[in-house]
Amino acid sequence: MLTDISITTHSRQETIRLGRLLGELLQPGDVVFLAGDLGAGKTTFSKGVAQGLGVAEELTSPTFTLVSEYEGRIPLVHMDLYRVSGESDVQSQIGWDDYLEGDAAVLVEWPGGLQDTVSDALHIRIAMGPPVQVDERVFHCRASGPKSLERLDEWVKRWLF
Ligand SMILES: Nc1ncnc2c1ncn2[C@@H]1O[C@H](COP(=O)(O)OP(=O)(O)O)[C@@H](O)[C@H]1O
Ligand SMILES: [Mg+2]
Repeated sequence: MLTDISITTHSRQETIRLGRLLGELLQPGDVVFLAGDLGAGKTTFSKGVAQGLGVAEELTSPTFTLVSEYEGRIPLVHMDLYRVSGESDVQSQIGWDDYLEGDAAVLVEWPGGLQDTVSDALHIRIAMGPPVQVDERVFHCRASGPKSLERLDEWVKRWLF
């Protein structure tokens, strides 16, 4: 099994589909970190993940909300830490540890230092041009433990076949 893989999408719709395939697989306690510049596609991808988890409402990223919870096949916790990613007490501000022990899948945009606090997580970095085409996005995906590796493996299989 590969721990590192890159996947390219060519449209917003394709990114949503990629997210949906992951959402269908996520289990309670799974953590997915989403890094990448503004406009890279983190929220677009997250919308797909929510769909895949069977969340009925549309996932959004309100400017002043750090954490949103959605009801799906399992709960989905979506965080956008853009405004606080530079701060040192992010973990206590959002009650990070409680989410890790909960029954939800956790998806984090702008994770910053949080990435180092979880030993088994799926790390996704979305890159965009140049030299990439306007609507092209490259998803650099890395699994850091057995659980995330299993997810990554199954996700990539479903994407490719
Ligand atoms: N392949 C692609 N995947 C995702 N978004 C894309 C793609 N191509 C173009 N876009 C556009 O890029 C923008 C991504 O925005 P968003 O998902 O909010 O980014 P982020 O949350 O990373 O700031 C949207 O306007 C979307 O339509
Ligand atoms: Mg966003």
